[in-house]
Amino acid sequence: MNILLSGGTGYIGSHTCTELLNAGHSVVTFDNLSNSEEKVNDAVVRITGKPFKFYLADMLDMDALRVIFEENTFDAVIHFAGLKAVGESVQLPLKYYHNNITGTLNLLSLIEEYHVKSFVFSSSATVYGDPASLPITEDFPLGTTNPYGSTKLMIEQILKDFYAANSGVSISILRYFNPVGAHESGEIGENPKGIPNNLMPYIAKVAAGQLEALNVFGDRYPTRDGTGIRDYIHVVDLAIGHLKALEKNADTTGVHIYNLGTGTGYSVLEVLRAMEAACGHTIPYKIAPPRSGDIAACYADPGKAQKELGWAAERDLKQMCEDAWRWQKKNLNL
Ligand code: NAD
Ligand code: UD1
Repeated sequence: MNILLSGGTGYIGSHTCTELLNAGHSVVTFDNLSNSEEKVNDAVVRITGKPFKFYLADMLDMDALRVIFEENTFDAVIHFAGLKAVGESVQLPLKYYHNNITGTLNLLSLIEEYHVKSFVFSSSATVYGDPASLPITEDFPLGTTNPYGSTKLMIEQILKDFYAANSGVSISILRYFNPVGAHESGEIGENPKGIPNNLMPYIAKVAAGQLEALNVFGDRYPTRDGTGIRDYIHVVDLAIGHLKALEKNADTTGVHIYNLGTGTGYSVLEVLRAMEAACGHTIPYKIAPPRSGDIAACYADPGKAQKELGWAAERDLKQMCEDAWRWQKKNLNL
């Protein structure tokens, strides 16, 4: 297949690009590099030994997007591009709605015009809000608590409406749980700008001595050790989920929604211990007040993806930490 990736130099996009190239697909990517760097493309070529076409383009710029669709013919589009910082989305909601929603509308209008039949969208477990019970299945009630999450939920609705008017297309909506880790080569990984908001990159920087101590956001949640529980999923397992979604799309039409998680939750302290084992030394931490908007626990029932896509996460927490640590060590100046 010839596949277009929006946001292809980003964290999940670059890992998916790698898996697609390794599986023998042709890939074209574009990105405006607002949260990634062009050198990621060289790293993907080093891993795979396969070149691919990259466009420096903003999805808000219809003329730039049109050039990509004019110069190539796509069997499928995987849409990663978007802004994703929850806190920033509360401060700058219009920026988030404009970038994520308008950008998606631009992409969809070209998909319609150029008759692309298969579309995969990066959604998030954030669309479940604070779930009433666990594990979470795809039919749980939906609701969000911040503009970032609202853009995901709105785009899911836009995709359902798009399908209703374009019944020949096949759309997979993938609700990611907590992607972590890095490619085992250490060539690509997560590279958040500034001080990380998310747990794993923060712990990795403390382990490397670049930050003083982990702030554990709350130790009085109703969980086994009082700290928050999440479903961490290795980014390579997540990337492979996209290949499975493309196979599913090729066989059917409709809108298909899947949780991509492992089904197992780990607490903040359990992740900390696993990272200590990976790096071989203790990692300083202190208990801090809970972070506003956080929930106690969240993990997936990944049964639907297993049954319908034949996909299940294979990499455990140990490997997530070892790969994150390898990436961190190789990139101490990031
Ligand atoms: P990322 O920031 O590393 O990648 C997103 C890429 O999109 C970046 O390279 C950025 O430069 C690009 N981009 C943003 N706006 C653009 C625009 N207007 N035009 C062109 N490119 C643009 O993030 P990621 O972690 O790889 O996430 C990929 C997708 O998955 C996002 O849609 C994100 O919301 C979603 N998601 C991520 C997580 C997570 O924890 N990483 C969890 C759930 C969902
Ligand atoms: C966050 C986003 C969510 C997004 C997801 C993936 C918020 C409120 N939620 O989820 O919308 O889909 O990232 O990008 O930002 N923790 C600490 N100390 C830290 C960082 C985190 O104790 O320095 C704890 C958190 O309280 C939580 C767990 O670690 O219990 C995971 O946090 P994080 O990695 O930020 O992910 P989520 O909050 O699940």
